[in-house]
Amino acid sequence: MSLPVEHVATTLPARYYTDSELFKDELERFYCRTWICVGRVEQIPNAGDYFLREVAGESIIITRDDEGALRAFFNVCRHRGTRICAQAEGHFARRVQCGYHGWTYGLDGRLIGAPHMHEGFCREEYGLNRVHTGVWDGHIFVNLSEQPDPLGIQLADLPQKFANWRMADLRLHQRIEYQVQANWKLIMLNYNECLHCPVLHPALSAITDYLSGDNDEPHGSYLGGSLEFQGGAETMSIDGKRRREYLPGLTDAERKKVFYYAVFPNLFLSMHPDYVMTHTLWPRAVDRTDVVCEWHFHHEEIAKTGFVGQDAVEFWDLTNREDWRISELSHAGISSRAYKPGPYSRCEGLPAAFDRMVLEREEKDRR
Ligand code: FES
Ligand SMILES: [Fe+2]
Repeated sequence: MSLPVEHVATTLPARYYTDSELFKDELERFYCRTWICVGRVEQIPNAGDYFLREVAGESIIITRDDEGALRAFFNVCRHRGTRICAQAEGHFARRVQCGYHGWTYGLDGRLIGAPHMHEGFCREEYGLNRVHTGVWDGHIFVNLSEQPDPLGIQLADLPQKFANWRMADLRLHQRIEYQVQANWKLIMLNYNECLHCPVLHPALSAITDYLSGDNDEPHGSYLGGSLEFQGGAETMSIDGKRRREYLPGLTDAERKKVFYYAVFPNLFLSMHPDYVMTHTLWPRAVDRTDVVCEWHFHHEEIAKTGFVGQDAVEFWDLTNREDWRISELSHAGISSRAYKPGPYSRCEGLPAAFDRMVLEREEKDRR
C-alpha cells in the first residue's frame, strides 16, 4: 500500500526500511531506471582497461574500446549466460573472452569468435548486452534501461552550478569502502541534514556553522545546499587549515563554503574550496549498503612535492564513521515494533523532500 504524498511531515513507516519486497521495487525504480554514478573516467585511461560494478544485483563491465569510447556491458556471456569477468578491475588485451567455452568479444561488445557454432550462425546477433553510459565532468554514469532519457535531463542544472569546480581536472587521492548495516535511504537522509551535526560531529561543528545552511529548493533529481566556514577555518580538515591552493575556477563566494549535494539515487558530492569528496551508495540488501568514499584533488596539487591530503581524509573518515554508526542505530530502532513515524522539524526540509520524492516515484509506478 502506498502512502499519499501529502503524508510527509513525519518520517516514513518502518516498511520502507525493512521490507525486502519493497527494497527490490526500489532497486528497480531508483537503480535500474535512473542514471547512477559508477566511477571516474581516470579509472580506465586506456583501451581495454575496465572495472566492474554491481548494480541492483547485476554485474556491469565498464571499459574503453579501441576508439577510446566508454562502453558498458552486462557481465553475461551470450553463449550460455556465464559471468565472463570475475576480477573487480583490470585490463582486457584487446578482447574479452568467456572462460567457459571461449566465446570472444571485441571491446565494442561485438562477438568475434564462437568456436564450433553451426554453419549459418550469425555472430552479429550475439554481441554483449549493452548498458548506456554518460559522463559528467569526469564522473561515469550508467543506465540499465533500454532507452533512457539523456543523462543531461536527469542532471538538470547541476553541470552549470558546479562548472567552477572543474571536476574533470581532479584526480583520486584516496578511496575508502565502508559496509553499513542500514537501508540506503537512511544514509541519504542523514547526508541531507546538519541538525545532527552539533550532537554527532563535534569536530565538524567547530569548522562549519550548522545553522548557516542555505538550501536549494528541492529538485526531482537532487537535494543540496551549502554551509559556511567559521572560526577562521578554510576547508574541512582536521584543524580547518587549508593545505592546498584553492581549486582554480572558484569565485570568492565559492571559496567560503562547502556545498553538499545528493544526486539521486547514489552520488553525494561534497564540494570543498580545495577538493571534492564523493560518496557512492551501493544497496546490497534492505538493511545493508556499501558506501565508497573518494577524495579528489586538483592534479597540479597532487603532483607537487610535499602534497598533503591526509588531513581531509582523516577528518572525513572520522565523520563518515560517525554517520554510518548513527545510520545503523537508526535502522535498528526503526526495525523495532515500538517505532512509529516521528515528526520532522523545520530544519529537516531536505529529508522530508527526499521522503516525498520516494513516495511520488512509488505512486507514479503504481499508475
Ligand atoms: S558460456 Fe561463455 S563461452 Fe560458453
Ligand atoms: Fe553527519
